[in-house]
Amino acid sequence: LANGLGRTPPMGWSSWNHFGCNIQEKLIKETADAMVSRGLAKLGYKYINLDDCWGASSRDTHGRLVPNATKFPSGMKALGHYLHSKGLKFGLYADAGTRTCTGTMPGSLDHEGKDAQTFASWGVDYLKYDNCDNNGINPEDRYKKMSEALLRTGRLIFFSICEWGKEMVATWGNDMANSWRTSGDIRDSWDSMVLRADRNDEWASYAGPGGWNDPDMLEVGNGGMTLEEYRSHFSIWALAKAPLIIGCSIPKMTNDTYEILSNEEVIAVNQDLLGVQGKKVKKDGHLEVWAGPLHDNKVAVVLWNRGSKKATVTACWSDVGLDPTVAVKARDLWTHSSRYALRHQLSAHLDPHASKMYILSPL
Ligand code: GLA
Repeated sequence: LANGLGRTPPMGWSSWNHFGCNIQEKLIKETADAMVSRGLAKLGYKYINLDDCWGASSRDTHGRLVPNATKFPSGMKALGHYLHSKGLKFGLYADAGTRTCTGTMPGSLDHEGKDAQTFASWGVDYLKYDNCDNNGINPEDRYKKMSEALLRTGRLIFFSICEWGKEMVATWGNDMANSWRTSGDIRDSWDSMVLRADRNDEWASYAGPGGWNDPDMLEVGNGGMTLEEYRSHFSIWALAKAPLIIGCSIPKMTNDTYEILSNEEVIAVNQDLLGVQGKKVKKDGHLEVWAGPLHDNKVAVVLWNRGSKKATVTACWSDVGLDPTVAVKARDLWTHSSRYALRHQLSAHLDPHASKMYILSPL
């Protein structure tokens, strides 16, 4: 969507994967504080997104959405102020149907104009718009209504479609939104993560500055995968130009988790100005090569062992879009070391589920 937002994939945090409905004002403020104090905000993680369960179960007497007064006693405008005062951005969740997915809040179907106004008046910068209880009405119509309503407010609001990749959303998402989910909900497991990476990959050609495929929020740090698996998860999301929306507890994040999420070289691939989604370019059983172009003729590459045995994964220059005759500098984005004047191919011997991520620069 050409609203000037999302020229690179959005980065931030969402309450859903770790906290579910268990959210309140204090948690959101502590999350914001930790985003800043741990230096994640400075690395680009700006959006603080409240997912489902922030609202009261019914509208007020003027038909407006209102926050759950027990969870958010100071109200949403005050929360928006707080986030903005820290240099962060404010994200909210709503639903393109009659109730949200937990059923705890009213949906915005047929209330798009009023709700968009309410969000704008609270200083909202990002809206995730879900798909539950939609009465079978065409999604394109429902999402378009909210998109137009947001534009009419005059406030710049990143619009994130959460339609679960049902109706070929990638083919129409960019007309009205800055990102669109390409699958159902991620869970904190290897199988769930890998499946979402593959689904999302099918739509690679539709992504670009202003509109991104969304394989769902990160599970890094939530405990259901090994560190190697989380490193692969983060590398592939970064390469695929996915939104980097952290889904663990920021205040309670371990150093291992922090080290993954704060890898500036990996983040730089995600935020590369060319904005081309990297994709799976080679598959030999469980051994895969993913790659995509970056600015200045550089190429980002992930060598990925998805099998259960140690194995060597190899990318030839021709697999990743490089001239087969060039000599290349290979920067390893996880060991932060470089090898010079490589020719023809790059290999790595990898543990099960492990990956290596590189930037290749022709010399
Ligand atoms: C749906 C969405 C999730 C989350 C929940 C909240 O399942 O796909 O990402 O927002 O609703 O209820």
